[in-house]
This record gives sequence, C-alpha cells and structure tokens, in this order.
Amino acid sequence: MTDRPTIDLFDAIHSARALRYLKPDPIPMEIVRELLDAAIRGPSGGNSQGWQWLVITDPAVKKQIADWYREGWNNSYGKNREEHLARSADEGGLGRVNYLSAEHLANHLEEAPVWIMPVLRGAATRPNARAGSSIYGAVQNLMLAARAYGIGSTLTSLYGAHEDDVKRLLGIPEDALTMALIPLGYPARGKWGQPRRKPVEEVTYLNRWDQPFAAG
Ligand SMILES: Cc1cc2nc3c(=O)[nH]c(=O)nc-3n(C[C@H](O)[C@H](O)[C@H](O)COP(=O)(O)O)c2cc1C
Repeated sequence: MTDRPTIDLFDAIHSARALRYLKPDPIPMEIVRELLDAAIRGPSGGNSQGWQWLVITDPAVKKQIADWYREGWNNSYGKNREEHLARSADEGGLGRVNYLSAEHLANHLEEAPVWIMPVLRGAATRPNARAGSSIYGAVQNLMLAARAYGIGSTLTSLYGAHEDDVKRLLGIPEDALTMALIPLGYPARGKWGQPRRKPVEEVTYLNRWDQPFAAG
C-alpha cells in the first residue's frame, strides 16, 4: 500500500471537477490499485459487486478507442463547434471553457496514461434503468480517490456508439456493458475547483414535489 494522501473529504468533493488537460506522465500502478481499492468500497445492490474494472494502458488499444470517441465527439459536438462555443452554460450549453476542455480531451484522449473502464456484468442482457446505481457510486469513489492523489479524471461516454466494437476489442463478455471510460492523469492545465452547480434549494423539495426545502 502507498502512503495514502490526506485531504479533507469535503475539500475533495468540492474541488473534484472534471480535469481534461492531462500530462502523459505515468501513474504508478500501486496508486492505480489504491484508486480501484477505493472504488470497490462503493455500494451495489445486495452487495452483488457485479462490476469488473479494466485498466487500459496499451497505446494501440487507446488509439483505436480514442478514434471511436472522436467520432462520437464530432457527431455530438464537433460538427456544430461555433454554435456550441457561443452557447453559455446558463443557456444549457457546455460553456466556452468546458467546450474547449472537452474538445482538447477528445483530441488527446490516448495521451492520458491510464484509462479505467468500469464494466457491469449482466447489464447488457438484463436491461434495468437503475443498473448504473450499482456501479456509479464506486466510480465516484475512484474519482475522489484520484483527486486525493492529485490525479485528474473525467467520466466520459462518447465512445458509446461503438459499444460492441469496444467489447470485441477488449474481450468483454456479451452480458456485460461498459459503463464509462475514465481517463486519468496528472493535470497539465486547469485547476482543482468548485464544480459549478445549481444551488441545493433549486433542486430539492421537502416531503412532497414542489414543496420548498429550506435549511434553517
Ligand atoms: C453520464 C456522463 C457522461 C459524460 N460523458 C462525457 C464525455 O463523453 N466527455 C467529456 O468530456 N465529459 C463527459 N462527462 C463529464 C461531464 O461533462 C461533467 O461531469 C460535467 O460537465 C460537470 O463537470 P464539472 O464537474 O467539471 O463541473 C460525462 C458525465 C456523465 C455523468
């Protein structure tokens, strides 16, 4: 076990925004193991732990999946670049800064030294709208643990149109679904900072839908 870093839990939560400008510098595998050991402490229904985790470092594999990811990026965002750049977060867009960072990640995905792909067994054959609830808690644990080690991460999904190709390429069993692709790396640009969100009062009700929640 490595010496675990110490960071206040709330400081980690309030600064772990998506970091998409990543250095290619390697991440020691003992640290990657620590991140996974934090991940698997997360919850799953009946403690079923139907997850498996792929650690991807192979440049040829990364290049192929990054090409599929870029196709997804271009179809969703790249082809209307100017429109997206002009649309602020308040207008429901990504906002210019986030767009540019997401574009950078799309163009440099394979340079992130380590990718983690969380995979959920049974999710392809037993569709369930809440399937993700048995893995995304663990994924968040992983990203917070990465934050503690000063490692940037982003939960990504734009390779998704090539799910079957990804599964074939990586030898993932038929019944399983890839649930995300998380590029990890030490930050090259961008700072840890408070994720921008609507305030609690705007997204929370007390007891009944539409009844305001107000603390104190
Ligand atoms: C289901 C899901 C899919 C996502 N897919 C992508 C993606 O493909 N590429 C990307 O750059 N970010 C992706 N994100 C990251 C979101 O854009 C990010 O969480 C959101 O903008 C908030 O960022 P912040 O925490 O830095 O404020 C995804 C997030 C989620 C939860």
